[in-house]
Amino acid sequence: MARELLPGQSPELLKALHILTRDGALNADSLRKLKQVNHLVRLLAPAIEDVLARFGDPVLVDCGAGKSYLGFVLHELFLRPAGKGSLHAVEARPELVAAAEALAARLGADRMRFERAAIDAAAPPARVHLVTALHACDTATDDALALAVRHGADHVAVVPCCQAEVARQLGEAAAPAPLLAPLFEHPWHRREFGSHLTNVVRALALRASGYAVTVTELAGWEHSLKNELILGRKVRASDRAAEDRLLGLCAAAGIRPKIVRLLFPAGAPAP
Ligand SMILES: C[S@@+](CC[C@H](N)C(=O)[O-])C[C@H]1O[C@@H](n2cnc3c(N)ncnc32)[C@H](O)[C@@H]1O
Repeated sequence: MARELLPGQSPELLKALHILTRDGALNADSLRKLKQVNHLVRLLAPAIEDVLARFGDPVLVDCGAGKSYLGFVLHELFLRPAGKGSLHAVEARPELVAAAEALAARLGADRMRFERAAIDAAAPPARVHLVTALHACDTATDDALALAVRHGADHVAVVPCCQAEVARQLGEAAAPAPLLAPLFEHPWHRREFGSHLTNVVRALALRASGYAVTVTELAGWEHSLKNELILGRKVRASDRAAEDRLLGLCAAAGIRPKIVRLLFPAGAPAP
C-alpha cells in the first residue's frame, strides 16, 4: 500500500476520510479512490506550490466541498508542512460542514476554515489565491469560477458536474445560427452538446478574464462522465478577443449561461 501514498500522506487521514477501509486495507474500491484523489492532487500540486512560494499566507478556497476530503488531503500534504496558508471550505449542507469541522478538530487540521453557505453568497477573504471546485453541481461550478475571478485567484481548477442549464436554453433558443442548429435539434444531442458547450463557455470566460486555460481529462475517473478538468492560471488583466469570441458563440447558439451573466452581464444577449 505504501507505494500508492504520496510523500507525507498518512493512512490515518485516509481512513478517517473513508478513502481507505477502516482496517487500512486496500480493496479494489479503495485503491481506485486513492488513485483518483492522488492523481488530482498531483495535477494541483504545481499551482499550490506556486502560491505557497509567492505569498506569505495564501488562501485556498474549495467550493462545494462536501466532506472536504480534498481539503484535508491538501492541508496534510501542503499547508501543514509549509506552516502557512489556509483552506476555506464552502459547502451548503450544514451536516457536511459540521462533520468536516469535527474531523478537523479531531485531526488538529488548524489551517482549515469551514463556511456553510451557497457559493454565490460565500464570504472568503477578499484576496484568494487558488480556487477548486470538484463536482460542484450544475451552475455551482459557474459560481466557483466567478468567485475565483472576483477574488483575484491566481489559479483555479474545476471538475464540472452534471449540467442542465445550457441544454435547457438550447431547447428554448429562438433563432440559433443556421449552421449550429442541427447540432442540438434532438433532445439527446441537446444534452450532450449542451454539456460540451457549457465547458467551452467556461474555458472562454476564464480566458476572457485573463487566465491561461488548460482543459484535460481527469484520468482514472473514466467510469464517470464528469472527468473534465479545467485549469486556469492568471496571466493578464483580461482578454478582449476571448470575450468577443465568448459573446459571439453565445449569441450564435442563442444561450445566456450563468458564468456569462455573472462575469459579462452587459455583453450577454437575452436567449
Ligand atoms: C457531488 S458533491 C462533491 C463534493 C466534493 N467536492 C467531492 O468531490 O467529494 C457536490 C457538493 O456541492 C455542494 N453544493 C452544490 N451546490 C452548491 C452551492 N451552490 N453552494 C454550496 N455548495 C453546493 C453539495 O451540497 C455537495 O456537497
